[in-house]
Amino acid sequence: MSDEISESSVEDLSNRALNSFENAKNLEELETVRVAFLGRKGEVTQILRSIASLPQEIRPRIGKRINDLKIELSALYEKKAEELQSEREGEGGFLLDPTLPGRSGFEGGLHVLHLVLKEIKEIFYGMGYSLAEGPDVELDYYNFEALNFPPDHPSRDLQDTFYLTKDILLRTQTSPVQVRYMEKHKPPLRIIAPGRVYRNETPDPSHSAEFLQMEGLYVDKNVSLADLRSDVSHFVKSYFGDDASVRFRPHYFPFTEPSAEVDMTCFACKGKGCSICQKTGWIEIMGAGMVHPSVFKYAGYDPDEYTGFAFGMGIDRIAMLKYGIDDIRRFLTNDIRFLRQFWGFSS
Ligand code: DAH
Repeated sequence: MSDEISESSVEDLSNRALNSFENAKNLEELETVRVAFLGRKGEVTQILRSIASLPQEIRPRIGKRINDLKIELSALYEKKAEELQSEREGEGGFLLDPTLPGRSGFEGGLHVLHLVLKEIKEIFYGMGYSLAEGPDVELDYYNFEALNFPPDHPSRDLQDTFYLTKDILLRTQTSPVQVRYMEKHKPPLRIIAPGRVYRNETPDPSHSAEFLQMEGLYVDKNVSLADLRSDVSHFVKSYFGDDASVRFRPHYFPFTEPSAEVDMTCFACKGKGCSICQKTGWIEIMGAGMVHPSVFKYAGYDPDEYTGFAFGMGIDRIAMLKYGIDDIRRFLTNDIRFLRQFWGFSS
């Protein structure tokens, strides 16, 4: 090839190349031109490679000319590419193909616990309950003392309770809302108080360091255990179905007397006994009882004038029972594949 290279052939190449870059009408054409002149086997590149074999007399001039040409063409290429690119963007978008189908937007949904709680609240609103709330960061006084917890009660232990100071903690239950509400309102009252509670527990499939509870409280003259049973039973039948019934098992809570744990018929075996209910036919769903006279005294009520019942249930647990969810930690891991199963279950 070296014998064909002369000053005039380089001039000719320069003209052709500059024209071709200048006349490229779009990015694709420009790329073809770039490959033809500046690519690995392009004309300019080939001459540059063969400079060493040129005759001594013309080598320096042709060498300089071809090197300058390469620099000039590279700059022209950059400029042209930028122009064609912005032309294309101006025409309606960045490499947009308007014939492609559009991408549909991602629609979110409400968290399953939110949906469950909403349905539960509706049932209680239907029975005349109204909503009350209390703080997550609570005084020891409301979380324990005014609920009649003895000073040495095990749940006051650091191992179970997150203390922020000696007197301030993350509430371990929604029961403190009972006292806060009674301090501000006179009976008759009928409230539910849902909210987040915290316990210093090692998480496992049935324990989480934070979960949702819902408290219930009804105070008036002559409120009885029969009223408690009636409301709880109505809730269970409304939420789990008419064939679910409840039973009360004697239990101990410091703030109720008598106290009970409430079971409902096992939804899986309908009471026959299976692995889910450990062959008993019953599943525990809440704690409940008649408000302890000491709690009334802390709240400023006369226990001789008023009686009341209270109950507290774990919303996560209810959701797990309702939908057969096997691990409480699923509620907090925000795995969209899990959460989206429940979207649309309630409006
Ligand atoms: N606060 C109790 C707990 O977290 C649940 C509870 C039991 C609430 C009995 C009540 C009740 O209102 O009467 O274990």
